[in-house]
Amino acid sequence: MSTVGIDAIRFYTPAFAIRLPDLARARGVDPDKYTIGLGQEVMSIMPPDEDIVTMAAHAALPLITDETKEKIHLLLFATESGVDNSKAAGLWVHNLLHLHPSCRVVELKQACYSATCALQLAHSYLHHHPNEKVLLIASDNARYGLHTAGEPTQGCGAVAMILSASPKLLALEEHQGVVADHVMDFWRPTYRTEAVVDGKYSTKVYLNTLQSCWKSYEQASGRRFEDHARFCYHIPFTRMAEKAHERLSKAASIPFNQEQIEHELIYSRQIGNAYTASLYIGLASLLELDALDLSDKRIGFFSYGSGCVGEFFSGVVPEGYREHLGLSFHKKILDRRATLTIPEYEEFFTYTLKEDGSAQTTPNVSAGPFRLTGVSNHERLYG
Ligand code: CAA
Repeated sequence: MSTVGIDAIRFYTPAFAIRLPDLARARGVDPDKYTIGLGQEVMSIMPPDEDIVTMAAHAALPLITDETKEKIHLLLFATESGVDNSKAAGLWVHNLLHLHPSCRVVELKQACYSATCALQLAHSYLHHHPNEKVLLIASDNARYGLHTAGEPTQGCGAVAMILSASPKLLALEEHQGVVADHVMDFWRPTYRTEAVVDGKYSTKVYLNTLQSCWKSYEQASGRRFEDHARFCYHIPFTRMAEKAHERLSKAASIPFNQEQIEHELIYSRQIGNAYTASLYIGLASLLELDALDLSDKRIGFFSYGSGCVGEFFSGVVPEGYREHLGLSFHKKILDRRATLTIPEYEEFFTYTLKEDGSAQTTPNVSAGPFRLTGVSNHERLYG
């Protein structure tokens, strides 16, 4: 069987952010609660003229060459912030990036987990189509609402990955541990733009699901904790990933070692939660910022989507991976952001598109190549 995995990875986050100590002061909270208790420093903010489609197109743009265009015949779009109940968000991206007309496009949903399901589906697909490439995009806008306990754990961003049968960044391994359960820890009914969440309960379910997934992964694969050099966890906020690693280390009777997760958390601390994209922003962070040469090293991954589905899986980093990373692109994306005041953030947050689908032009605040310019006759318009 050929090797299958991640060939390239780029993420994107909008050009606006707030500092969490500013949010804490505005909410009458000790800033240490957000920066130490939750482990978050900066949070990306979605402007009125961006959405999951523009973020996705921005993330994928640097990966689209004449060669990839020719080879991509499957676009998997993972999100829980869908902009249409019928049309896949990936179709707008397909159009904006002028992808091949012979390309399957579909949107997948299961909270923050669906990008991982897409990855495993692509794994099987590429075994049967080893000369093709798959474009996997995860794009989300995490919203809990102003003045809620979840507010400091919002954020937004997209990740685009090219998957292939000759991966340069991560070769996926056989054997996973998967657990599904009907749990109401976090969900978003179709009539709401913000999630309903039982926050403390969601953190307990996350940790219990991790332990069950690990047990089944360990049994299926025969791999032990010590066989993994680094771990990447879903990052709703960075302290959650630290707690996950504490739990797994304890279950394996191995002393907790922050070094095994520290570099995964660096970008997310500056972005916030990007739901489906968070785990893979973590992977980019680890590969780009860890000084350890990860060549031939195994990484363990825990993907968690409330509701809930969890999966523990693993991959091995090929030699030469450092030549294929997007460090300077990502630095530029993070450094270019303007810091909003809290009233400016609240204005962006409460901006809405009309519900009757009548003509509307969005304020022109984003400088990137793709914008949501407005709506006309129920149709979203991009430029
Ligand atoms: N200095 C330092 N630390 C402080 C502090 C201070 N002054 N004040 C409080 N803290 C600490 C607390 O001790 C606590 O740490 P521990 O959990 O280690 O004890 C931490 O800061 C948070 O404090 P609280 O638990 O009191 O915070 P809260 O109740 O206001 O809300 C939350 C926390 C429940 C995570 C809330 O932000 C939330 O609901 N977030 C959204 C849900 C979420 O992210 N769930 C994660 C699992 S589900 C998932 O992963 C899917 C997904 O993406 C949503």
